[in-house]
Amino acid sequence: MTAKKRGSAAIDLLLDDHKQVRQLIKQYEKMHEAASADEKQELAGQLCNEFLLHADIEEQFFYPAAREALEEEDLIDEAEVEHASARDLVEQIQAMQADDPMYDAKVKVLGEYIEHHVEEEEKEMFPKVKRAKLDFDALGQEMLQAKEAAQGRFLAGDSKRKTKGQGRSPRA
Ligand SMILES: [Fe+2]
Ligand SMILES: [Fe+2]
Repeated sequence: MTAKKRGSAAIDLLLDDHKQVRQLIKQYEKMHEAASADEKQELAGQLCNEFLLHADIEEQFFYPAAREALEEEDLIDEAEVEHASARDLVEQIQAMQADDPMYDAKVKVLGEYIEHHVEEEEKEMFPKVKRAKLDFDALGQEMLQAKEAAQGRFLAGDSKRKTKGQGRSPRA
């Protein structure tokens, strides 16, 4: 095996997610004016799901490891608060129909929250974690497995899954 930089596996996986989420945000920006409500709902739904999946993995695996690796935990605290705000907005979007007059605004603001958040992770948190002397490769494996398992659940049709402990009954 070639020598790999410590931290790269876990962080590379998160960077890939960021790229994907950013693409969905851009795609929505580009298409929302011309798109049908169904198309918007589909794309925004994808964005919400990708974000939730990513946030779950970070909260369950990466942030706890980063807390141990870093001396100051402010960055992680802030990141968790940002996740919580984005999750709130995701729940609102998931509960709305795409022809709602506020739909585009909510998706746009969600996109802005996420852009700001991933930028801070990439510019501040990840470089610090990379410099910390911990082996994040095993963590990367764990994260990958958890992500694949969660994706499997999405593909099995559980796309409107509930976020931790917050049940939302589907519209009857
Ligand atoms: Fe995050
Ligand atoms: Fe992230």
